[in-house]
Amino acid sequence: MRETVHVALGARAYDIHIGPGLLQDSGALIAPLLNRPRVAVISDENVAALHLETLRKGLKEHDISMVSMTLPSGESTKSWPYLTQAVEWLLDQRVERRDVVVALGGGVIGDLVGFAAAILRRGVRFVQLPTSLLAQVDSSVGGKTGINSPHGKNLIGAFHQPSLVLADTSVLETLTPRDFLAGYGEVAKYGLLGDMSFFQWLEEHGSSISSGDLSARIHAVKRSCEMKAGIVARDETEQGERALLNLGHTFCHALEAATGYSDRLLHGEGVAIGCALAFEVSARIGLCSQEDPSRVRAHLKDMNMKADLSDIPGNLPDADALIELMKQDKKVTDGRINFIMARGIGEAFVTPDVDLDVVRNVLTEQLAAKG
Ligand code: GLY
Repeated sequence: MRETVHVALGARAYDIHIGPGLLQDSGALIAPLLNRPRVAVISDENVAALHLETLRKGLKEHDISMVSMTLPSGESTKSWPYLTQAVEWLLDQRVERRDVVVALGGGVIGDLVGFAAAILRRGVRFVQLPTSLLAQVDSSVGGKTGINSPHGKNLIGAFHQPSLVLADTSVLETLTPRDFLAGYGEVAKYGLLGDMSFFQWLEEHGSSISSGDLSARIHAVKRSCEMKAGIVARDETEQGERALLNLGHTFCHALEAATGYSDRLLHGEGVAIGCALAFEVSARIGLCSQEDPSRVRAHLKDMNMKADLSDIPGNLPDADALIELMKQDKKVTDGRINFIMARGIGEAFVTPDVDLDVVRNVLTEQLAAKG
């Protein structure tokens, strides 16, 4: 029960393998990339405790040896000190230009290790072994790598495509329900931005996905990766269409900043709330029907996910302060926020022409409902 999605980027094309047991079979899939039978693996403490030995055995079956480094878990690892540590360790390990670096972990590890690979000896190849749902459907695919700055998230980085992605769906069983559902926020995003029938399928199969049905999970990861692969192949460096992948993210980034990037709101939870807000604003300005935001929220609630500002614990700043935070977004040009709005479910588009009074009203109403 395995699927493959191809990312068609010419000389930088690669495959995403999706299915159970891929860590065990990693040796067979990674071996063709290697000039010598040795890889350097970087992981985080939580993931390494669960999955590093399985990877070691999988590589050993094909006589590939492995050196490994483990970094602390959590967003603060995506920073200059840990990037320096990772790069210096790779140099200590004599990783050469023709070698392959392996990122075993969620979005933090994938982004940091991808960036380390991008700058090590002016660029070495790397393989993504994403272990969270969010990383499997989003961050491991498409070559955005980087670290955070005190000025904001992901502000330092490079486009550096992986040579291979192995999305082992067995590892999803080790996620907490909260982390799994946060990743599901990004899955739902794909249906909402560009595939109404996928969203419909998610409405019908969401409970099977969350309860662990393997074929439903594989299909959800595969369809998400197919959509991302198509967009990335058409617009690798985000000159246009790729911005659609940021549906819900302008709201999300403001909410993450407002909650101090803390446990109060996980990134994928912010994406889900942000998607619901994007549809609410779209309906208010007459772009889509009023049923659409209700349908988006209903699905998120069916999945026991956060759907509204009232689902975020603790106080939030007022609507004006949230809008100020939205203006820090990377998508701001000439001081104008580029919003991802929708003409309907599956019909998102980018526009700088959104009346901020409407955004303010929607936020104010939800903040008032929060009490
Ligand atoms: N996560 C959005 C992108 O890869 O473009």
